[in-house]
Amino acid sequence: MHSVSLIAPGKINLDLEIIGDRPDGYHSLIMILQSIKLADKILLHPNGTDLLRVTCHHREVPSNQDNLAYKAAALMQKEFPSLGANYGGLDIIIEKHLPVAAGLAGGSADAAAVLVGINLMWDLGLTQPEIEELAAKFGSDIPFCVGGGTAIATGRGEKLDSITPLDHLWLVLAKYRSITVSTPWAYKTYRSVFGHTYINEPASLASPTAHIHSRPLVKAIQQKNAAEIGKLLHNDLEKVVLPEFPKINQLRETCQNAGGLGTMMSGSGPSVFTLCASETEAEAIQQQVRAKIPDPDLELWVTQLCSHGIQVISHPKH
Ligand code: C5P
Repeated sequence: MHSVSLIAPGKINLDLEIIGDRPDGYHSLIMILQSIKLADKILLHPNGTDLLRVTCHHREVPSNQDNLAYKAAALMQKEFPSLGANYGGLDIIIEKHLPVAAGLAGGSADAAAVLVGINLMWDLGLTQPEIEELAAKFGSDIPFCVGGGTAIATGRGEKLDSITPLDHLWLVLAKYRSITVSTPWAYKTYRSVFGHTYINEPASLASPTAHIHSRPLVKAIQQKNAAEIGKLLHNDLEKVVLPEFPKINQLRETCQNAGGLGTMMSGSGPSVFTLCASETEAEAIQQQVRAKIPDPDLELWVTQLCSHGIQVISHPKH
């Protein structure tokens, strides 16, 4: 069995709408998810033992069973026990470039890469929808990370409908290193403050696209109308996260005032992004934000939207 190296792009939310409660305790969502070029690199290497071992130089990334990449490999062993026993353990080496706990699906992207990589290493021949189905078993964002691009996500976030890929725009990403937002906290708080607005009528929830406020955004994406896309960015979780975290709110304002097409928080934060028409514009905005907030705790990146999810970069058999 050979080693496999993969690229695992992060994602941003161009749209995140909370529609209602689900019987499983999660929320029914409508999202537009978008891959970005900023990506982790994953190396899967047979280790000659029966153990799964995760290595990552980033001190906030767990190297135990809590790591989503570990969970992905353990799930594959459980789903395909004879192949798992036959091929043995794996070293999962994560080269972290995506900020951790940022609302950019870094952990989910690593897990998606492990599923795609093991599918190749064990010659499973699983199709993308089959891998996405496995992915949905342990995280709402993981199915999207498999195929990436631009997609409408409904259900818990795991039901995907790809739309015209959007890869011509750039973005500035901004995140305070020391601020973390708990995703369960954000959703729980949203439920307690805005629960009365939920659509709890099962027939309505059965067709979430009927409630897609984002329809104009989908149209703007299909038309590649950058100015409209920027204006129509939306994230319901901003309503609970921004009042609780004034520094994220202030960062969002600073990014927005610096220009670009539009600014929004991604996922449950704390990352904020500004969409830009060009790399030059993104770099100018990055410099302006840095000048306004010289705090070394603030991290900034310039990257581009991208039209793919997990990519295999080396697999000697192919
Ligand atoms: O599925 P994932 O582990 O990424 O979700 C993290 C947390 O976010 C869940 O434990 C839940 O509290 C919240 N969540 C939710 N509804 C969703 C997705 C996530 O309430 N559709």
